[in-house]
Amino acid sequence: MTFENSREFAKQLDAQDALAKYRDEFNFPKVNGKKTIYFTGNSLGLQPKSAKTYIDEVMNDWAEMAVEGHFFADKPWWDYHERFSKPLSKVVGALPSEVTVMNTLTVNLHMMMVSFYQPTEKRYKIICEEKAFPSDQYMLQTQVKFHGLNPDDVIVEVKRREGEYNLRNEDIIAKINEVGDELALVLIGGINYYTGQVLDMKAITEAGHKVGAFVGWDLAHAAGNIKLELHDWNVDFAAWCSYKYMNAGPGSVSGIFVHEKHHSNKDLPRFGGWYGHNKERRFLMEPNYDPNPGALGWQSSCTGVLAMAPYLASVEMFEEIGMEALFEKRDKITAYLEFIIEEIAKEVNGNFELITPKNLNERGSQLSVLLHGEGKSLFHYLMKEGVIVDWREPAVIRLAPVPLYSTYEEMYEFGQILKRGIQTK
Ligand SMILES: Cc1ncc(COP(=O)(O)O)c(C=O)c1O
Repeated sequence: MTFENSREFAKQLDAQDALAKYRDEFNFPKVNGKKTIYFTGNSLGLQPKSAKTYIDEVMNDWAEMAVEGHFFADKPWWDYHERFSKPLSKVVGALPSEVTVMNTLTVNLHMMMVSFYQPTEKRYKIICEEKAFPSDQYMLQTQVKFHGLNPDDVIVEVKRREGEYNLRNEDIIAKINEVGDELALVLIGGINYYTGQVLDMKAITEAGHKVGAFVGWDLAHAAGNIKLELHDWNVDFAAWCSYKYMNAGPGSVSGIFVHEKHHSNKDLPRFGGWYGHNKERRFLMEPNYDPNPGALGWQSSCTGVLAMAPYLASVEMFEEIGMEALFEKRDKITAYLEFIIEEIAKEVNGNFELITPKNLNERGSQLSVLLHGEGKSLFHYLMKEGVIVDWREPAVIRLAPVPLYSTYEEMYEFGQILKRGIQTK
């Protein structure tokens, strides 16, 4: 599509936008009395207005029923988490039995490592990406130490090539083949948090399996953002948070995926708890642990219903809209933002570049702009003008237009503010 850098053109795109009505379903922070241009849905998604209704429902049930709410609330609490199985399975391309929600992301990655990282003398190495999100690095290091091993001997990072910003899928696959039968696990971020690059999860999963390793994905930046087909890709496990593209609120519960092929294996090590125990027999208070079939067999504690309530509000919105409609707008609005940034760069001779891949299969919503000249003052200018972006050291501004609530006119408006920011520095 040929784009134009004009307000009229952007407005035309908004007029044709099938998802435009969903913008009103979100609360926007304001700066100088005006709705902000919110580009940090990749960090903390906006609040769906329905979140409050879902939370109030739990609060009212708690006030009126107290303990009886576990069984007699409109949405009983004892199996509230099971309401996610169907809608969330559509978000990540899974069978309903393969997903559940529990804990938070890093905790869930630890829980998955308990099952899927069982080092032996011969097979003990882990492949991850260079500069993984720090929490993943700490999680891996501490898991390795927990097994009495040295992270330097175990963790193999795949590096970017000299002068390149993005990882090459072929380099990851080559590293998998090189480590070969010493490889126990591949665990990588499906989308790189810094550059917004989407990896070829299908090919990498296949390569890991070929050498006999398990393959898991951190989908923090992928869930609700890109097309996932975890079941068909034969992924062993995955975990994601719900507060980014899934708009479930700060620190809200995380989702997990465990492939069906592992469900009947009750010998896989797990850190159990009563909510993972055979659901029909949970309240019999039996002494021996018998995990539920499916992802529900990885639950441990009773689930945080107040934290899940806004997630349920959001997941139901995703189900109503359908993932394909989201992806269609995502590609168009992100391409429009890319066009605007490139136009402004030409107009003002801007000293910055986009480091996110151009290929649509290799990116979702996020565009990362590397500033060579402007520095942090530009970031501060944008924030002061009501453009909410985020800054990642040493010099990257991340921008994620979100198909549920961003408009094309905002992309145009952002370009004008960016231009003023560069000209007035
Ligand atoms: C890629 C990635 N992994 C892990 C985390 C950590 O998530 P949590 O603090 O919810 O455990 C984040 C948080 O932003 C993230 O972006």
